[in-house]
Amino acid sequence: MKRPSAIATALDRPETKQDAVDEVFDAVAQRYDLGNDLMSLGWHTRWKRRLLDGLDLPPGTQVLDLATGTGDLAWDIAERLEDGLVVASDINKAMLAVARRKQRPTRSPVTFEVADAMALPYDDASFDLVVCGYAGRGFPSWPVVAAEVHRVLRPGGVFWNLDFARPHPPWWDGVVRAWMTASGGLLGLVLHGHAATYTYIPQTLARYPGQRWLTTELERVGFRVVMTETTGALMAYHKAEKAS
Ligand SMILES: C[S@@+](CC[C@H](N)C(=O)[O-])C[C@H]1O[C@@H](n2cnc3c(N)ncnc32)[C@H](O)[C@@H]1O
Repeated sequence: MKRPSAIATALDRPETKQDAVDEVFDAVAQRYDLGNDLMSLGWHTRWKRRLLDGLDLPPGTQVLDLATGTGDLAWDIAERLEDGLVVASDINKAMLAVARRKQRPTRSPVTFEVADAMALPYDDASFDLVVCGYAGRGFPSWPVVAAEVHRVLRPGGVFWNLDFARPHPPWWDGVVRAWMTASGGLLGLVLHGHAATYTYIPQTLARYPGQRWLTTELERVGFRVVMTETTGALMAYHKAEKAS
């Protein structure tokens, strides 16, 4: 695996970014869940539960979990949803393989599909709800993905996104990323033998213009957006509705 500085260089260019992101998730897939628990001290499950509790899931809802990773959101939605369908898609086969192994009884089926968020292989207006957790910073272009999500949602459909935010003021943002770089580098070495696996998070955050920028980009493709920050603006939720 590349060194943190080489990953950082690759993240700077849209044409090399996806390869760098794929390399990181190939390396972490088998221990991604453990790494998440340790890095967030278990808080990622609370942040995801808050998203789940905000979802409107009438029977029959057709859901896309975009960049599902190891599938937590997909499985939890399928547990809560009656007679619907959850499509769990990701560009990375190793992450999807871990998601598939989490089989458990659910009220709606979950299907797993390899798909690039930049060019979704779904018809226009095929989903009522799209969710996405912790993936946006890794996309080569968030605006392109936002337009794809808008396209595959039916009129009146909703997109929910959860991700790290850029906390404010700027000095605090710098402190948080410095802490993530130090602790993530150490954890990456211990868990995966590569510092770069978790320094990926502050590296992508440093290149992310932030949650207010994302609100504007989602509005630009036609969504009506409500953005909420939580935990001292460490995390942000975007609820984006497509006009009926
Ligand atoms: C940090 S993980 C998040 C996984 C999961 N959604 C969660 O909340 O834990 C980011 C995921 O985004 C996926 N990803 C990155 N670029 C992608 C793309 N262009 N299309 C689809 N998935 C992508 C990665 O493979 C990885 O599984």
